[in-house]
Order: sequence, then structure tokens, then C-alpha cells
Amino acid sequence: MASPAKSPVSIRWDNGELWLLDQTRLPHHVNYEQQVSAEQLFDSIHQLKVRGAPAIGIAAAYGLCVVMRQWLDASLPEFRQQLRVQADFINSSRPTAVNLKWALDRMLALADDYSGSSSAELHKSLVQEAQAIHAQDQALCQAIGEHGLALIPDGAGVMTHCNAGALATGGIGTATAPMYLAHEAGRKFRVFANETRPLLQGSRLTSWELHCAGIDVTLLTDNMTAHTLASGQIQLVIVGTDRVAANGDVANKIGTLGVAIMARHYGIPFYVACPSSTIDLNTPDGKSIPIEQRHADEVRRVGDYQATVNEIAVQNPAFDITPAELVTGIITEKGLIEPPFGEGLSKLFAG
Ligand code: MRU
Repeated sequence: MASPAKSPVSIRWDNGELWLLDQTRLPHHVNYEQQVSAEQLFDSIHQLKVRGAPAIGIAAAYGLCVVMRQWLDASLPEFRQQLRVQADFINSSRPTAVNLKWALDRMLALADDYSGSSSAELHKSLVQEAQAIHAQDQALCQAIGEHGLALIPDGAGVMTHCNAGALATGGIGTATAPMYLAHEAGRKFRVFANETRPLLQGSRLTSWELHCAGIDVTLLTDNMTAHTLASGQIQLVIVGTDRVAANGDVANKIGTLGVAIMARHYGIPFYVACPSSTIDLNTPDGKSIPIEQRHADEVRRVGDYQATVNEIAVQNPAFDITPAELVTGIITEKGLIEPPFGEGLSKLFAG
């Protein structure tokens, strides 16, 4: 079935070459960059050329295959040791989204379990594993969409924050998946996308990709959230996440917490959409999730415009934690999980 998303794919694996869409240049420039080294991939992830929790996991898995090609003739112990070194390095590019570590751990586990004797053969299996991670993510997005579809009735207004869309995944996104499927089903609804300072994922990415697909989308600056929620135009919020802790606390793009608090104030349901690869039962609660701190210039500048002087102190946390008590439900590929989340999330992994 053709994807209802019409924006360009963020990751391409072409005959053993890894090409990443440079999302920092969207929406005006659609430019793919081939990844040829661990350092380049690290920078691409850190600079948000590839971004969004599932997408950085997929890119890391493929990137590891590219990097390991130089050790095809090495002994298996040396190949495995290098694999671990390179995976650790790539994993250090961003700390919050658990999908990065999840994908790299999956690659390392495959190497640990390999019972053959050839590094080149193991490398082939690693490529297949990266392709499986990519293909599975596409299927997970579709399943999230199917489980979330009923939440968007005709006439609904849906708010989202940041980009948990096709650009952030291998498929039709997480938060956007129910939107794409509702649109495909012919439902009439309206999406309100917060612009998402400092790096404008909402205006540059979410509003653009939904617009490309023909979905009715309205862009808001972040400080219009309360006013718009109060206006009666919004019936539900759906956001993505970079990590869900075992108790249901959720890390997502900075500003999400504010949206959740305001949604609760106005009695509007607040949903989080994610694949199980984003749920981390080893992290007990939101306090234990590492929050990425980014460069001050991202706040001082808006695009190319320097909006203040360099002497002004700046804070730039890239994510915040929404406590489980503000979350109405978590839409996963296996269904909608409702509170109490501790129980629902552990059951998800029980079978
Ligand atoms: O800094 P970013 O752009 O990588 O942040 C992305 C988000 O916060 C997304 O909501 C999250 O990764 C989920 S993507 C399906």
C-alpha cells in the first residue's frame, strides 16, 4: 500500500550506501548527504540533520554497517571489539531518545549471537538487521496509526508539538500516524502544529509534511498554545516521545510539558504515540531520563537572525518530562495503554 505521507523519506539505503535527508535545510532544500564515517554520522545526528527518536535509531544501525566495512578482513574478536567501540561512539551523539541505544544494542546482540567464523558474513547479517529495524519501524508506525485512528473523529481539532512525523521515522510517523490514516479514510479534521522553538521542527517539518499530504494544518507559535486550547478548537493533543520511563513519565521536545499542563487545565485529552522501542523499562521514572542540553546559539538565533547579544545567559534543554499523571493514554503498535501505566507498560513486554 502506498504511504499517505508525501514528504521525502528521511533515510535511504541504496546498494550499501547510507543517504540522510538534511532536515536542517527543510522545507526549502531537499538535499541528501551520503554518510561515510562514524564522525560524519555523529555530526549528522548531533546537528539534527537526521532527528526524531526512531529515525536516529535506524540511521545509527545503517551507519554502523557503513563504518564496519573497513574491518571486514579483521578477525572476529577484533571485528566485534571495533563494533562495540563504534556503537558506543555513535550512541554518544544524543542522550535522550532511547531508540538510538535500542537499535545499536540490537546490532551488538546479533554480533554476540553470531556463531559463524567470518567477519564479512557477520557484516552481511548486520546489514540485514539494520534493514529489518527500518522495515519494522515502518510497520510499527502503521499499527500505531490504526490504534490511534478512532481518537480523531470527523470535525476534530488536534494539536501536536515538535515533529513526530514521517520525517522522524521510517514510516508515517508516530503522533502523525493516526492523522495520516484519518485523512486517508476521508475524515475532515484540523491539525494545529506548534512551531517548536528553538529549532522550529513544527513550522519547518510538521506543518510542511502534513501540508504536502493535503492535511488541513494550521501553524501556531508556541505562546499561542493556551489561547488556542481555551478557544474550543482543540479536542485532543497527540505528541511523540523520545523515551517513556517504566512509570509512564514521558520525555519529549521542550515545551511538551507546558502543552500537557494546559491541556489538563482545559480538560483536553493528551495522548503520546510511540513504538515499543521508545519504552525503556530500565529507566524507572522521568527524573532518570538524561535531558540533552544544546548550544546557546540555538536560542540566541532564530534561523539566520541573531535575536539577542552573545553576552546574555541562555538555557537550552532540548527535552522536558511530562509526568504520567498528565498523560491520558499511550498509543503503541500493540494498542492504547491507559493508566496505571506501570502495569500497562510491563504487560506490553510480557507478551
Ligand atoms: O530534537 P528532535 O527534533 O530529535 O526531537 C524530536 C522529538 O521530540 C519527537 O517528538 C520524538 O523524537 C518522537 S519522533 C517519532
